[in-house]
Amino acid sequence: MFNRARHHFIAWLLERHPQVWFRWKKIGKHRLCSDRDFLALHAQSLREGEGLQVLEERYNLWILTQSVARLPGALAEVGVYRGGSAKFIAAAKGSADLHLFDTFTGMPAVNPATDGAFREGESGDTSVEHVRAYLAAYPAVYLHPGFFPASGAILEREASLRFKFVHLDVDLLASTHDALAWFYPRMVRGGLIVTHDYGDTTVPGVKRAFDEFFLDKPETVVPLWFTQAVVTKL
Ligand SMILES: C[S@@+](CC[C@H](N)C(=O)[O-])C[C@H]1O[C@@H](n2cnc3c(N)ncnc32)[C@H](O)[C@@H]1O
Repeated sequence: MFNRARHHFIAWLLERHPQVWFRWKKIGKHRLCSDRDFLALHAQSLREGEGLQVLEERYNLWILTQSVARLPGALAEVGVYRGGSAKFIAAAKGSADLHLFDTFTGMPAVNPATDGAFREGESGDTSVEHVRAYLAAYPAVYLHPGFFPASGAILEREASLRFKFVHLDVDLLASTHDALAWFYPRMVRGGLIVTHDYGDTTVPGVKRAFDEFFLDKPETVVPLWFTQAVVTKL
């Protein structure tokens, strides 16, 4: 309730008195302060109450998606929940295809030894219909309900399909590892794999999965502010 009111207040401030908000956040010099499209989307998203990502993470998704505009290939997100982060990718991607993977019925089986306090079935208050409606304004967005990577099988038939941008937000060690194993060989050179939660100590499986997966690969895992990390495919 308090958070909802706070988000509405920030959205109002951002729209009516952006300079006050920039001073308050101490970000007045930053390029995002003149990015009207991003600021409008951020305010809209706060009002809608969707999305679990903070300002810095949303902006990273926005500019990293734009940074691969000239590369060939599709975009994807695994871990969509209600579409909060997907909206920033969808709005920044142009006309390229965006494939969204989630059970859309909640978290799959959790391993308490590696996944912190997550529970099976958690985040189940979503649906394919909700996300489809939430992202209806954006072209070429495809939803793939089910357990990933099994739900990726439909795309395996397109042997030439490659990705230029992948966002992972699956919280769990096994899900993160399996998604990396599926996407890594399908990335174009220069393509980006971004993950949420790499720097979040309450989500230990994500950092472990990335660190272990890239141990024998030439790419470097680069941590970002606030909790994300990014890998550029070589
Ligand atoms: C933290 S939520 C995603 C939040 C979303 N990115 C946002 O910013 O609003 C994590 C999601 O990962 C999904 N998930 C985790 N492992 C999965 C798997 N192996 N296959 C499909 N979905 C998975 C869960 O169903 C859940 O909806």
